[in-house]
Amino acid sequence: MKTPEWLNTAVFYQIYPQSFYDSNGDGIGDLNGITEKLDHLTYLGINAIWLNPIYHSPFKDAGYDITDHTRIAARYGTETDLTTLIDACHQRNIKITLDLVPGHTSEQHPWFIHSTTNPDCDRYIWTDHWFGDADGLPYIAGETPRNGNYIINFFKCQPALNYGFGRRRHAWQKPSTSQGAETNRQAIADIMKHWLDKGIDGFRVDMADSLVKHDPDKKETIRTWHNIFNRIRPHHPNAAYIAEWGNPAQSLKAGFHTDFYLDWPGNGYNLLVRDKHPYFAPNSPHTTQDFINLYLPHYNATRDKGHFSLISGNHDTTRLAHHLDETSQHLYYTFQLTMPGVPFIYYGDEIAMTWHNLPTHEGGYTRTGSRTPMQWTTNTNAGFSTNPNTYLPTYTNTNVETHRNNPHSLLNHIRTLIHHRHTQPGLHAHQPLTFIPTPNPRIMAYRRGEGIEVYINVSTQNTTLPSGGTTLIHTYGGATLTDNQLTLPPMSAAILKPTQESYPHK
Ligand code: NOJ
Repeated sequence: MKTPEWLNTAVFYQIYPQSFYDSNGDGIGDLNGITEKLDHLTYLGINAIWLNPIYHSPFKDAGYDITDHTRIAARYGTETDLTTLIDACHQRNIKITLDLVPGHTSEQHPWFIHSTTNPDCDRYIWTDHWFGDADGLPYIAGETPRNGNYIINFFKCQPALNYGFGRRRHAWQKPSTSQGAETNRQAIADIMKHWLDKGIDGFRVDMADSLVKHDPDKKETIRTWHNIFNRIRPHHPNAAYIAEWGNPAQSLKAGFHTDFYLDWPGNGYNLLVRDKHPYFAPNSPHTTQDFINLYLPHYNATRDKGHFSLISGNHDTTRLAHHLDETSQHLYYTFQLTMPGVPFIYYGDEIAMTWHNLPTHEGGYTRTGSRTPMQWTTNTNAGFSTNPNTYLPTYTNTNVETHRNNPHSLLNHIRTLIHHRHTQPGLHAHQPLTFIPTPNPRIMAYRRGEGIEVYINVSTQNTTLPSGGTTLIHTYGGATLTDNQLTLPPMSAAILKPTQESYPHK
């Protein structure tokens, strides 16, 4: 399994379609709206998109409850609109990936409805009696005519598709060789082929680790993915597969090219930006070594096999700006955009859109507050829509227009960092990483390919470090390089490159 070359230079932008731009005035974002706003991505230097689900759905989980995998939800537009978007992206050298939801469907999907009255159908996971539990798995009882309970993957409306069980203790727990599991593997491969044939460049795969149940070391789930990939790779060898898994040692073995460093307490990423006292905030008690201890085992286990990717956030997390002030956000992006792996920026994070405490909408619950419409301008509805009735409320605290006009804005800082990432091959996703020890426990310092060095000081101490044979290519917060001394004031950062004469001997 070869990682597609283009991932090494990719900087992804995650678009939540209902909230990006409403082109037809119905109050909800759509595919044509994304096409219209591609200039924003080009301005930033973005060259890849992950689009959240756009399929036919009752939207009880904002589209992660699918009723037809190959039909676009009317609210987002038509197949022609998608083709127009794909072509427009490709003209701008932007790759476009869709969301694939292999683990479950909507309870209203015809496959599931069929299984509720056909006791022999094993495409979903049914127990063999209406009374009793489901061996520790979440289940729904009393909803359908079938004499059994069905396992769910997430909400009540999301019955789990059957891919078999690793450890089997009951007759209703089928092996991965069962007919239903085989039919599902083929169905998922067919869905992938359908969209890849239309010209998309890959998939972000929802809950990719969830397929085989009672599979503690994920051996059977990994085998299932090999089986699915074997059906699709011969047709589309260059497609990229991005796992929502959170364990790259497993997901890369399963055949994915990159995994997300997800916001899980205790895993290192959370400590950086979403912990109660995040590392990137001034006065946080966390040291660089606390992060390295959690991150390095993942990195060392996977560095030659694929990517472990940092996110600014996503549609399931609270917004970065809810946890960090703007200075800390500047420093986090300096880190995110110079680390290994493929960086993912969630729409609106580049202008510091924040989380709002909103009533739940389409199964969002506390996630709803991170899904509000993109704030484009100071006009009505933040320039998102002409319809007074928008998908979710719009806010006026920040917008793209103001950020573009301010050379020191977060948006323009991110743009500069993306430019460095594109123009310095040493910063590409697969280039090596070594942490550099410094006397200040709250300086994050590391060396990437071609001798590029990154220093980020999140402490309250001014720190000076020897730095002979280097040139400053980026500075933030007053960091300076004079007489072979790098001076890092509190909350500052610098990116250095070896001077031509000193490289590669430095
Ligand atoms: C993870 C997705 O990111 C989330 O939004 C969704 O609710 C669940 N998977 C279920 O599909």
